[in-house]
Amino acid sequence: MKISVLGGTGDQGLGIVVRFVQQGEEVIIGSRKAEKAVAAVDKVKELLEKKDIPNLSGMANEDAADKGDVLILTVPLAAQMGTLKTVKDFVGDKILIDATVPLDTVVGGPPMRYVDLWQGSAAERTAEILKGTGVKVVSAFNNISNSHLMNFNEEIDCDCLVSGDDAEAKKTAMALIDKIPGVKCIDCGPLERARIVEKITPLLIGLNIKYKSHYGGLRITGLKLD
Ligand SMILES: NC(=O)c1ccc[n+]([C@@H]2O[C@H](COP(=O)([O-])OP(=O)(O)OC[C@H]3O[C@@H](n4cnc5c(N)ncnc54)[C@H](OP(=O)(O)O)[C@@H]3O)[C@@H](O)[C@H]2O)c1
Repeated sequence: MKISVLGGTGDQGLGIVVRFVQQGEEVIIGSRKAEKAVAAVDKVKELLEKKDIPNLSGMANEDAADKGDVLILTVPLAAQMGTLKTVKDFVGDKILIDATVPLDTVVGGPPMRYVDLWQGSAAERTAEILKGTGVKVVSAFNNISNSHLMNFNEEIDCDCLVSGDDAEAKKTAMALIDKIPGVKCIDCGPLERARIVEKITPLLIGLNIKYKSHYGGLRITGLKLD
């Protein structure tokens, strides 16, 4: 299964790329510019101190969306619409995992506040923008910080809250994300649950600032998971 990370040159995307590369998954970094994606591949080689990473490549977002089986969107809210429009013709009926958090920074505010979206959540906005394709949107990765992901020699001490309307797509996404050491996926229900999950991120950002940490995360306890 090829994983394409759209906007994978950025903080969150690159962290996700590194974690899946470590697990031996075939990963494609997507960018607005193919050469920036290729430079990001070199950055990952440097980080992991490897001359060659055969399971990693970089290309334009459109090509990455076309070639990937599972797509992961890791761009800021301001870039969500533009990025999705460029890949709309290539998403088909694939799974798209949306990590977008609607932070108030999009209108110049602080990162410990969120902005309300007409659609209810960024993930539902993604589903609306891609309406008419058969794409299955799954919301995940919202509460796992880039610091956690990039601390790639350590397990991640954070659960991954996952929402989505397509049960099979959600199952596939969760099986993939569960491969990242330390992460436990929790099925939160339909995509509209992303309205709650996305709002936890600005809380965690605020807690990280207050307690001078980069590793604030969350664990749900007391559930018997399969
Ligand atoms: N950082 C975190 O810890 C974290 C945690 C949880 C969730 N998230 C969410 O993950 C998403 C990505 O966060 P990030 O911190 O990785 O963002 P970022 O580094 O600012 O941007 C990620 C990538 O998006 C593309 N991009 C940026 N601005 C753009 C624009 N105006 N138009 C089109 N493309 C643009 C760029 O890729 P190219 O230039 O290569 O096209 C960039 O490398 C956000 O929605 C964020 O809320 C982040």
